Amino acid sequence: MRPITPWEPFAEVQEQVLHGEGAFLVTADAAGRPNAMTIGWLQLGTVWGRPVAQVLVRPSRYTHGLLASGEFVVAVPLGRMGEELAFCGSRSGRDVDKFRELRLRSAPGTAVRVPLLPDCAIAYECRVVARAELRPEGILDEGIRAKYYARGDLHTLFLGEVLATWDLRE
Ligand SMILES: Cc1cc2nc3c(=O)[nH]c(=O)nc-3n(C[C@H](O)[C@H](O)[C@H](O)COP(=O)(O)O)c2cc1C
Repeated sequence: MRPITPWEPFAEVQEQVLHGEGAFLVTADAAGRPNAMTIGWLQLGTVWGRPVAQVLVRPSRYTHGLLASGEFVVAVPLGRMGEELAFCGSRSGRDVDKFRELRLRSAPGTAVRVPLLPDCAIAYECRVVARAELRPEGILDEGIRAKYYARGDLHTLFLGEVLATWDLRE
């Protein structure tokens, strides 16, 4: 596992989330039990002079509550783990222990208490520095409102300072 900058794998990570099968958003409960949900959207950039990873999570997700811990890991498989991504994107950690069910391997995080997924290619360890709730009147594009929010459950934006980035292939 090799430390890299958050920007190094930028293009391949965006390709994976946009055209691939997504990435894992890993969190943990107070007892340290991990959960992984699939995300299709991920923003990486500089905010407040810091490297930031932003994820959008609907309040209905089990992950949403777990993010109150203030920490998360984004684990990106790069063309692998399609089956695991499909499972973590359709089943809730409320009902099933996804790590046990999928026999997901984990390794301790270095900067957060959330584990890394060593079978992924890239991992971002993040500390939540800000969150913002989307409001209907804040969505200015009618098409987006109709397509994504007909049933409400508007996403919360979680901005995580990237504390460490890893290339797990080496
Ligand atoms: C490809 C894909 C991308 C997804 N992206 C998101 C996302 O960005 N935000 C979100 O809230 N849910 C997203 N989901 C849905 C969640 O992964 C799904 O509801 C999951 O079961 C939630 O798990 P949890 O209840 O354990 O948190 C996505 C699902 C798939 C299959």
